[in-house]
Amino acid sequence: MQIKNNEQINIVISGHVDHGKSTVIGRLLADANVLPEGKLQAVKNYCEKNAKVFEYAYLLDALKEEQAQGITIDAARCFFRTKNRNYLIFDAPGHFEFIKNMITGASRADFAIIVIDAKDGIKENTRRHGYLVSLLGVKKICVLINKMDLVNYDEKIFIETVNEYSEFLNSIKISDVYFIPVSAREGENIVRKSEKMKWFNGKTLFELIEEVEIASDDISEPFRFFVQDVYKFTEKQDDRRILVGTIDYGKIKKGDYVIFYPSMKQSIVESIENYPEQLECAFAGQSPGFIIKDPLFIQSGELMVKKDEKEKPCASKKFYANIFWLEANPLVVGKTYKAKIGSQLVKIRIVEIKKIIDAVELDVIEKKEYIERYDIGYCIFETLKPVAFDIYDNLQKTSRFVLVEQYRIAGCGIILESIYDNIDYFDKKISIRESLWNQGYIKKEQRELRNKHKGKFIILSGQDINLLRKVSSLLEKELFDSGFYPYFISPAVLETGISNDTEILETDREEELRRLGELARIMTDAGMLFITFFSELDKYELELLRKLNSPSEIIKVNINSGEKDEIWDIVINNKNENEIVKIIIEYLTKEKIIEYYI
Ligand code: GTP
Ligand code: MG
Repeated sequence: MQIKNNEQINIVISGHVDHGKSTVIGRLLADANVLPEGKLQAVKNYCEKNAKVFEYAYLLDALKEEQAQGITIDAARCFFRTKNRNYLIFDAPGHFEFIKNMITGASRADFAIIVIDAKDGIKENTRRHGYLVSLLGVKKICVLINKMDLVNYDEKIFIETVNEYSEFLNSIKISDVYFIPVSAREGENIVRKSEKMKWFNGKTLFELIEEVEIASDDISEPFRFFVQDVYKFTEKQDDRRILVGTIDYGKIKKGDYVIFYPSMKQSIVESIENYPEQLECAFAGQSPGFIIKDPLFIQSGELMVKKDEKEKPCASKKFYANIFWLEANPLVVGKTYKAKIGSQLVKIRIVEIKKIIDAVELDVIEKKEYIERYDIGYCIFETLKPVAFDIYDNLQKTSRFVLVEQYRIAGCGIILESIYDNIDYFDKKISIRESLWNQGYIKKEQRELRNKHKGKFIILSGQDINLLRKVSSLLEKELFDSGFYPYFISPAVLETGISNDTEILETDREEELRRLGELARIMTDAGMLFITFFSELDKYELELLRKLNSPSEIIKVNINSGEKDEIWDIVINNKNENEIVKIIIEYLTKEKIIEYYI
């Protein structure tokens, strides 16, 4: 087995109170010879002088005071080194901060140790912590049946405990577990192989953690990259957008086809930036910047995946998830929360609590309208808009989420199943809208005839917002002065205008576009020349507006952004606002949209 030198392994240790976690760590430090010279003896001497029975757990306390020779210990963590590895051991589930960090991906455990007292048996926290370990997605687990000295190193008791706990773990879908009978106090099977338990020929704890393969297999998984941020470089007029974030899974190379979820925009990776150099390919764990070929408007929060990969993520507004609730106020059905899924921040609510799972007995409580602190709820969630994610069975990191309440992490969840895919979300909505569209007595054609022009949606786009605004108002004025019925609205009005929802998360481009498209549908049906502008629309966004405005038609005008793409009806470069308006009016006349322009 190959182990890289100085590889770091993060271990969480948990177990019921007094079952021996601290003793296990103390014994490990002492027997693995990683303590500072003379420390063990000093603590022993101190105990003797004070008529106290020496405990290995005291070592941890004694070491807290000094940060000596590569060992660091505080309330929750113990850091030490062996020849092979750097260890970071967390005394975990007592510290909810740590759980939160793990769920959010801020820290991560490669390995979990669960300690069970052989005499006392499986207790409340033994089960709860087992459940948490599974919730956190730790794949490698070792269970220590400790205090074997108290049960005469009896193999039968070991086997009984193993069977009972295995049954529990199986029921929560954990199967790859290594059981070791130990006595931490006596040092049996911690570092030294036990003479007293010859019936056990497996590895000692130390052998196991020194050898366990933790090299991540994330690279062989399908590619997943949540766009954390989009940087724009305009200094050289080159209009590059760089998508930054950390690759959760898989690998990607220059030239690969990619799709962004949930917008379903597609492009090709043009370059992979790792300042100051450029990379040919990038892997899970790296945080490069991607430049894509097409001028698409990609928002932070989108999930970039490779087009040719079989395993696709989900884009949906509804899913089943398990949620572990951490706040004193219960989690309530129907109330709106904020959820962070990958780098997406969305509003979310529980539609239904299917059941509440008691993490100790795994008892199931049905028909409750709220989830109390430290309970796990199996629920249907709904987000305000479609989000991208994976299913926990497929990929863990991209299936986790947290619920945020007043800037605190209030709950941690994993998504188990998507309820429906929302890829054709708008299509469905539009077809429902059209089937319900209630026309009055006067038809659009009659209005057009009287108005002497068609009802059309004129959308202007480009980089210079001020110019777009001026052109739009001027166009409105010119058309109005010529006897037509134009109507201009600034998109800013729609940011907060038509919503009773005061708590908008951040400016939500897609929601603004949706409102704009819906409004255009009404205005054009009323026979108007509906004019507005929007910064830097890409082809997917134009298509969305087209759909929302249909069956009326859209005229797409690109102003001064150097684009030549055939997706635009009119492309105008290097002209002032009067010239631009003139060109648009000429187009409207030529296309017989305004038929009697004088
Ligand atoms: P908390 O941190 O309070 O949850 O406890 P812990 O799990 O860290 O247990 P700790 O290591 O403090 O041990 C609790 C008691 O069990 C101490 O008195 C230890 O001496 C005793 N103990 C630990 N391991 C063994 C063992 O292998 N055999 C025996 N006989 N006692 C042990
Ligand atoms: Mg302890």
